[in-house]
Amino acid sequence: MHDFHYQGREMWCEETPVAEIAAAVGTPVYIYSHRTLRNHFRVFDDAFGAVPHITCFAAKANSNIAILRIFIREGGGVDIVSGGELYRALRAGVDPRKVVYSGVGKRVEEIEYALETGILMFNVESFQELEAIDACAGRLKKKAGVALRVNPDVDPETHPYISTGLKENKFGINVEESRQAYLQARRCRNLDLKGISCHIGSQLTKISPFIDALDRLKDLLRALRTAGIDIRYLDLGGGLGITYKDETPPHPSEYADAIIEAARDISCTFIFEPGRVIVGNAGILVATVLYTKENEEKRFIVVDAGMNDLVRPSLYQSYHHIQQVRKSRRREIVADVVGPICESGDYLARERRLPGFARGDLMAVMSAGAYGFTMSSNYNSRPRAAEVLVMGDRYHVIRKREELRELIRGEKIPDVLKGKAKTILRRAYV
Ligand code: LLP
Repeated sequence: MHDFHYQGREMWCEETPVAEIAAAVGTPVYIYSHRTLRNHFRVFDDAFGAVPHITCFAAKANSNIAILRIFIREGGGVDIVSGGELYRALRAGVDPRKVVYSGVGKRVEEIEYALETGILMFNVESFQELEAIDACAGRLKKKAGVALRVNPDVDPETHPYISTGLKENKFGINVEESRQAYLQARRCRNLDLKGISCHIGSQLTKISPFIDALDRLKDLLRALRTAGIDIRYLDLGGGLGITYKDETPPHPSEYADAIIEAARDISCTFIFEPGRVIVGNAGILVATVLYTKENEEKRFIVVDAGMNDLVRPSLYQSYHHIQQVRKSRRREIVADVVGPICESGDYLARERRLPGFARGDLMAVMSAGAYGFTMSSNYNSRPRAAEVLVMGDRYHVIRKREELRELIRGEKIPDVLKGKAKTILRRAYV
């Protein structure tokens, strides 16, 4: 469910015409519906209402501070993977005691920053990281809350790039070793062993892998409690999928019911790290058609958004629905939608049956709220898109379009190169 719909021929977001935003803010622009974001968060969070839990939104999916703020106001926490995400979460007003820190490569400065801030816990991914956190905490005279991220070796049946809970993946500590890791961690004086965590992958469309992972974690939890280690938090990560095309993922309430049922014999506080399921369908990317062209093989629709704005199609061959912002009566065509980047992999759709787009039309790339803007870059020196949050019949620019001067922020020409540029033209050979 989302709040992008047509009134007559016009696409609206909530009570605001999308074309009005594009006219005022320009394109490419990410547009998010506040109502959808809040509803999605509530649906997810309420689904676990029967058990103690914290919903820590995965900032990597969408880290705009206005978006984080929406979930924080609803009582949510934040799942972070870097000092940068911690900074954003704090600027958005998060309660640090609702922050969990995952990721295989935490730097010492990042660990210190998180300790100073007083986050709930680090999801630790290796023996060496345990030692590093213990040492940092000792230096700062703090106690670090930790959970070990266990790799439960279950197949999430998703795209290989976003599957994280298999033995071959770099994430976590495998189940067999994790008991030993807890026993080792118990000897570290500056660690408070609070929890067990896992995250098996993203865009999962079945419940069973989550339950398999939970079962493995439960066995470990029991063994640890028997050994006198007081595990209070079970962090099941994120990963619930959404409908991009014709996928039929479980509704958050089905997912929650299955987890609550499978965990009814254990008592602890649950942590969830949903990203995509909250924001994915709450945002679109709006682009303008620059040109249309065709050769013997194909038709192309060239738009002003490229792989630097939305990399998912290029990187994962992922499908995003494409719609007209203003429906036309033109004949349907089969075409590739491509961006301005100098790479053949720069596309938003391939061999897609589409309404007949013409130069100057606005195009909406649907389901772009998750891993859209956050994965965008300045490749080809393209300023990053603006972001807009719609609230009813009003909208707010929550990130202004980047300006050219921001592209070279921090860059410097060393003095030795500052002399006059050569003005003599080399003789041209003709
Ligand atoms: N927790 C951890 C530790 C994660 O690594 C992730 C995602 C999440 C939570 C949130 O997962 P979600 O609920 O959004 O599935 N760029 C890819 C997705 C990468 C996901 C990485 N980790 C994409 O565009 O599909």
